[in-house]
Amino acid sequence: MKIAVVVGTRPEIIKMAPVVRACRARGAPCLLLHTGQHYSFELDGVFFAELGLPAPDVNLEIGSGSRTYQVASAMLGLEPVLRAHRPDVVPVEGDTNSVLAAALAANQAGIAVGHVEAGLRSHDRGMPEEINRILTDHVSDHLFAPTTGARAILRGDGIPESRIHVTGNTVVDELHLQRDRARRPGLLERFGVEARRYALATLHRPENVDQEDRLRGILAGLAAAGDALDLVVLAALHPRTQARIAATDPALTARLRVLPPLGYLDFLGLHADAALMLTDSGGLQEEACCLRVPCVTLRDNTERPESVAAGASVLAGADPGRIVACARAMHAIPRDWPNPFGDGRSGERIVDLLLGMRA
Ligand code: UD1
Ligand code: UDP
Repeated sequence: MKIAVVVGTRPEIIKMAPVVRACRARGAPCLLLHTGQHYSFELDGVFFAELGLPAPDVNLEIGSGSRTYQVASAMLGLEPVLRAHRPDVVPVEGDTNSVLAAALAANQAGIAVGHVEAGLRSHDRGMPEEINRILTDHVSDHLFAPTTGARAILRGDGIPESRIHVTGNTVVDELHLQRDRARRPGLLERFGVEARRYALATLHRPENVDQEDRLRGILAGLAAAGDALDLVVLAALHPRTQARIAATDPALTARLRVLPPLGYLDFLGLHADAALMLTDSGGLQEEACCLRVPCVTLRDNTERPESVAAGASVLAGADPGRIVACARAMHAIPRDWPNPFGDGRSGERIVDLLLGMRA
């Protein structure tokens, strides 16, 4: 059984690390293919270095561009690579343009596709990720649903039961593995904060950063939430967001402490001791839930309803008043919810299923 894992962006690298490790632990041949959708060191190389991943066997270096450009160029790049190596299965993770491209390219080459994090739906077809998820689920041969809720969605889409496995989310595996390593002495001092006296924020979704009214609303809401709760707001901003702010009005972040995108360990170490997470990230809704850090989700919908149902997250949208109200409410809640995203052994489960070692 030859496995060719495809990654393209920050969250895929992080969430596929447990799958790559489980392949290695079982001696299963595993190629690592990178589309190169993310390429800046802080969105790409830092994770290979920190998580101990091997360098990709192939990097297609597709870079940035339109959705059509990214999907088409990743497909064109993957076609000869898949033909040359003939893997038995191509696992992909999540909902990015790289994921859709890899799933289509593998399917068209007659190679089985395994979708890690299958069955998520925001029910918002305006999000590129929603279309990528639906299409990837439907071309996949093995669907690794993180939760029973995701399995129910796949069943509702008519996907045969025999293809669906509830495995938990690999994000939990990585978090369990790295949490103690991440909380190293001197970290909070390096960022000039004290435990539970700061909020951590990220923002990158196009529907938030590319729409000026939402961008302004969210940044005003973050600053006002910091003032209301007497918290420093550390905002680790994606290059896309930093560019938008620079082009719109650099003063928008005057009351935030803006940071570049951080490596996994610094980010996780800060997250673990934060008073609040304020984010539009998918993966961070899961990580906050696992770390028992209350999450204010800067979106109108979510494909991670488990986190909301657990009481760990609330949908705050982009209105500053609502963001402050949600931040106040979440800051006050007890941190005692259960983690619905798995037990930290999802990567092993997925690889065992692929190797036929588990039914
Ligand atoms: C992509 C995914 C999104 C995921 C996010 C993870 C899609 C449709 N979107 O969004 O689902 O949540 O990755 O972070 O696939 N840029 C850099 N350096 C890089 C990469 C990008 O500076 O290494 C800048 C470029 O200006 C680029 C912009 O960020 O145009 C957007 O990059 P892109 O890969 O298109 O989408 P993301 O916003 O990163
Ligand atoms: N992350 C990180 N540094 C940062 C921001 C996020 O290491 O500055 C990690 C975070 O811990 C999580 C993942 O990146 O594991 C989430 O990726 P992102 O928000 O880019 O994508 P999404 O999950 O929304 O697709």
